[in-house]
Amino acid sequence: MTFAGSLQEGGGPRVRLHRSYLRGTDHWSSPKLPQPQWQEDGVHRTCSISQESPPGLPLPSSPGQVAPEGGSFGPLSTSVPSGGSGIGRACCQVLAREGARLVVTDINLQAAKHTLTLLPGGQQHVAVAMDVKDRRSVEDAMKFAQDQCDAPPSLLVNCAGVATFALISEADDDLWQKIIDVNLKGIFLVTQAFATSLLDNGKDSKGAIVNIASILGKTGHTYLGGYSASKGGVISLTKTCAAELASKAIRVNCVLPGLIDTPMAAGASEEILENHKRLTPLGRLGHPEEVAEVVAFLLSERSSYMVGACVEVTGGYAM
Ligand SMILES: NC(=O)c1ccc[n+]([C@@H]2O[C@H](COP(=O)([O-])OP(=O)(O)OC[C@H]3O[C@@H](n4cnc5c(N)ncnc54)[C@H](O)[C@@H]3O)[C@@H](O)[C@H]2O)c1
Repeated sequence: MTFAGSLQEGGGPRVRLHRSYLRGTDHWSSPKLPQPQWQEDGVHRTCSISQESPPGLPLPSSPGQVAPEGGSFGPLSTSVPSGGSGIGRACCQVLAREGARLVVTDINLQAAKHTLTLLPGGQQHVAVAMDVKDRRSVEDAMKFAQDQCDAPPSLLVNCAGVATFALISEADDDLWQKIIDVNLKGIFLVTQAFATSLLDNGKDSKGAIVNIASILGKTGHTYLGGYSASKGGVISLTKTCAAELASKAIRVNCVLPGLIDTPMAAGASEEILENHKRLTPLGRLGHPEEVAEVVAFLLSERSSYMVGACVEVTGGYAM
């Protein structure tokens, strides 16, 4: 089945809109929209309007609504981060705190299972092995997630990644291919499986995806040519997915971390670490939780008007 062929047509949920406008302005004159009921208080005109959202333009379920007490995510929300380490594990911890029910995936199942032991809250989280560069593995994991939760996941963090340090003059084909397969093709495969299962579930399904790119996707970096190129691809892929899926009520955004204190960063030389800190106005590496908090915001309804955004979490590096 092709990706486009699996998408369903149709608008979002029935919503009620409330808008206040200064006297004399009328933003509801489009013939496509129903006429509003106006109320006057001497200064403002206020209108209430109930409408079906037009096809392809889903509206937030409750515009302006703040996060519900007890977390940003309802008990039925599920998420599929690559959560066995570093930023992914921190995402799991923050999302669980915010009420999400998690399916923690990683190529390293033991690491994903260990993440489960660190999660707060009483939700029934599960772990499953998934190799993001292998279509079969991705589709099996997505089916497992759907079966475990009796519904497809509605939130996704694409966090799996590898980094290998080599000058362009020394990098070989295998090194280049592995980086592109995990960091870029992996996001394509997982996003496709996630969106297909969510959209096959019915037209009221809403979702959000956050891709973990890198500030190096914008700047490039010596010794990290393949890695930086893959992350530049993630930025571009995020925007394409965002454009294609927004009308299907799935928002896609990405985060561009600077250097974050994880096992991946531990692979960098002392010279690279010191140089990066020197060029970072905050003068330190970031903590995985500082990225995870932004991811949680981008997954939540608090960012309901953000689509295709690339949010830098860098301590000011390369701003
Ligand atoms: N640490 C940083 O400085 C930094 C900066 C910018 C972006 N990032 C990105 O953040 C993401 C997380 O990185 P991290 O720093 O937490 O690194 P990490 O090494 O701690 O975690 C990476 C995780 O990806 C998993 N993984 C690797 N290959 C996989 C595959 N084929 N399928 C499924 N899972 C796989 C690993 O098992 C590991 O759990 C990566 O995409 C990375 O590129 C990291």
